[in-house]
Amino acid sequence: MSNKPRFPGTSGAGSVRVVDLRSDTVTKPGPAMRRAMAEAEVGDDVMGEDPTINELQKIAADMFGMEAALFVPSGTMSNLIAVMVHCRERGDEMIVGDLSHLHIYEQGGSAQLAGVHSTTVTTLPDGTFDLEQLELKICHGYPDPHYPRSCLICVENTHNIQGGRVLPLTFLQEVRTLADKHGLSVHMDGARVMNAAVAQGVPPSTILQHTHTVSVCLSKGLGAPVGSMLAGPKNFISQAVRCRKALGGGMRQAGILAAAGKLSLLENVEKLQEDHRNAKTFAQALLQCDPPLFIVDTAAVETNILCFHLQELGLSPSEFCARMGQVCEGEEAALGQGIQVLMCPYFGNSVRAVWHLGISPEDTQLAIQKMQFVASQYLEKLRAQ
Ligand SMILES: Cc1ncc(COP(=O)(O)O)c(C=O)c1O
Repeated sequence: MSNKPRFPGTSGAGSVRVVDLRSDTVTKPGPAMRRAMAEAEVGDDVMGEDPTINELQKIAADMFGMEAALFVPSGTMSNLIAVMVHCRERGDEMIVGDLSHLHIYEQGGSAQLAGVHSTTVTTLPDGTFDLEQLELKICHGYPDPHYPRSCLICVENTHNIQGGRVLPLTFLQEVRTLADKHGLSVHMDGARVMNAAVAQGVPPSTILQHTHTVSVCLSKGLGAPVGSMLAGPKNFISQAVRCRKALGGGMRQAGILAAAGKLSLLENVEKLQEDHRNAKTFAQALLQCDPPLFIVDTAAVETNILCFHLQELGLSPSEFCARMGQVCEGEEAALGQGIQVLMCPYFGNSVRAVWHLGISPEDTQLAIQKMQFVASQYLEKLRAQ
């Protein structure tokens, strides 16, 4: 059987199914969401007059147990605004996990745009920090002028790079106690906090009682096309409105987008459970793959993100992902159809696959078939060498 790709891009001749596990950001709005968007009542939101946005903000604040919430264009802007509002004085500092999205994937926006210094703590495999290390990092700034002044601790829940790990409630409580002891605030990058809430079987407010502010993405597993919610105390949100405007995030008749956001919060939260189940099913199939090619800790698959490694048999994560994304000669005959599974080589020489609204249990089974096919083909090739 040759490894020559027949369809290196999207589908060519014959029937090819695409299972896109690159990220939960790839979801597309379905008919009900598009209808809600088309029918949304709108107004000028910079003047506070968009009724659909106002409604979404109220729904989010209530759901998160916060006084107020603000609709913002993206998770990155939402985190940046939080940093800008919490760290207002020159020389203010935030403490972040060294593997946090805020620290790694937001282009250093808090330094670049907000002028805020950050110091890092080591991110542990479950997304938490060592609290003693965290406390040692806290600087008070006064009276010794050498040091910055720590104002903010940022946590990420679920933790992206660590594979969708859910932060234990006891850890959050301990971080908050430490923050209160030293007069710091706690911001949660809760891009996927709804996944955490579903996995823990608690309302999001139970998680967020331990934080001062939170940023929640609507455009990931919840399936909205655009937008994040930043939530916190009323005076924090009033200042956030100013920062959002300065960053160019003041939108006008964006109720069209908020209508999708409303639906995502009201109707799509329960569906996250299915993504978690599918991710686990795929992880178990990796573990059971015969011959063994993968290393995966199934107990660490708590939500919709799966990170796994390949045994050291000469197949790199990028080669594996490339092979999963191609349909080779003979594949249709062996599997009944061509299957392209899109996933990404990831942090620390791993592969990342993410489940979302667009992936059904049947798609997951197709991805498993493809993974088994790729593994057996590769090992056949190794034996033949
Ligand atoms: C944990 C986390 N925070 C923040 C973001 C940023 O969200 P956005 O892509 O909407 O800027 C992401 C995006 O993947 C994320 O995974």
